[in-house]
Amino acid sequence: MTRMPFLAGNWKMFKTGSEAAEYVEKFKSLIADVKDRQTALAVPATALYQAVAAARGSDLIIGAQNLHWEKEGAFTGEISAPMISAAGASMVIIGHSERRQYFGDDDSAVAKKMAAALLEGLLAVVCVGESLKDRESGQTIDVLAKQLRGALTGFNPAWTQKLVLAYEPVWAIGTGKTATADEAQQSHAFIRSEVASLLGGQAADSLRILYGGSVKPDNAASLMAQPDIDGLLVGGASLQIESFVKIVRY
Ligand code: PGA
Repeated sequence: MTRMPFLAGNWKMFKTGSEAAEYVEKFKSLIADVKDRQTALAVPATALYQAVAAARGSDLIIGAQNLHWEKEGAFTGEISAPMISAAGASMVIIGHSERRQYFGDDDSAVAKKMAAALLEGLLAVVCVGESLKDRESGQTIDVLAKQLRGALTGFNPAWTQKLVLAYEPVWAIGTGKTATADEAQQSHAFIRSEVASLLGGQAADSLRILYGGSVKPDNAASLMAQPDIDGLLVGGASLQIESFVKIVRY
């Protein structure tokens, strides 16, 4: 099974609408010849509309970084899947460790958000990953299994094509510490085996699993060389066009 490589940037709380438009215009022309992999940018909600407009005419996917599971309602400060899709975006990140850590997104919220995104037809990038404490106490596998079971409870197999998983060890995010390619591969292989037992072998085979956590131009190729790493979710290094282009062209 060949899985199309997926290179996604996560801008977090960086860039205004006009900065996003300027970046996307340049970026899309610099990668116009890249046809054998998918590229995506998860931008702040306030920049969605301008990023989508700037991406028009290219294959660059624009997405949000979070959503609420309800379609609408009295949820001050939140945005919903239909709102993301009405802004022209087609992807959303769910359960990023910063959401889990600072905003209380637990496994059941992740499952509800994932279902809302997939019902709307958005590509759902669902993040899992262990903390340093988990890793040092030998809990990595248990934590990943729990997060996967939590997220994939009630998963409809018809959604498989629209799901992407991201393995992001929390200790490697924004710290400059990357998991070695071997460490990442071990976790990715485990995640794929768990997906096989939860959703079946065919789904596990076709599902893309991204690695995230201090990805830089100089470690992208060795990570992508691993058999179970199908793409990268890039925070800091996606903020500069030059470094993200290098990662896309790993
Ligand atoms: P980083 O962030 O590349 O800055 O470590 C990755 C992420 O949080 O998605």
